[in-house]
Amino acid sequence: MLMPGDPLRAQWIAENFLENARCYCRVRNMLGYTGTYRGERVSVQGSGMGQPSLAIYANELFREYEVAQVVRVGSCGALTNALRIRDVVLAISAATDSSMNRLRFHGLDYAATADFELLRSAYDVAAERGAPTVVGQILSTDSFYSPRPELVDLLVAHGVVAVEMEANALYTLAAQYRRRALAICTVSDHLVTGEETTADEREQTFGQMVEIALESMLAVSLE
Ligand code: HPA
Repeated sequence: MLMPGDPLRAQWIAENFLENARCYCRVRNMLGYTGTYRGERVSVQGSGMGQPSLAIYANELFREYEVAQVVRVGSCGALTNALRIRDVVLAISAATDSSMNRLRFHGLDYAATADFELLRSAYDVAAERGAPTVVGQILSTDSFYSPRPELVDLLVAHGVVAVEMEANALYTLAAQYRRRALAICTVSDHLVTGEETTADEREQTFGQMVEIALESMLAVSLE
């Protein structure tokens, strides 16, 4: 299962990468498709923006549909000069400013972590293709427009490289249901240098990321 935030990206992935894709979900325009990729059943489901939205879909996919692996394919903002625009970020773990896990774990701080096998195969596929790739911790924020940027600086001082809005919830739910999950994000905007990608560049780097995601899922499911 691939999970882009934007449902129109789900449609684009289905049209460009899957064979015999059919749309199974249009509720709230949160498009979902199922088809095959190199003979293996693969689906693609929009998650919407933010952890509460993703968590609805991820819960149902894990609980009702027994989805074995979810790879989020999204964009992120770079927080350090270790990253350049268009780089691929493989999120080994995801910090968060969300209260979802604080409530779930009664105040205990849970370390939301990627599936090692998916991460390893994504890293190998990206390296084979020569895609500039960074493995690092990211921040899943609830606030696209941060009211407390100094807190982001503190996280950066502790190794966080990029910011997006969904991975922490995905990793937590995958752990709960004992499934595999990984967030792959391309850097769409650089919060240090102010650089941004154009729409064309975003589509091209998005396609490359989808290929990395599909190939790494296949490598893991065939193990
Ligand atoms: N903040 C949060 N999420 C994002 C960003 C950002 O700057 N860029 C892409 N997704």
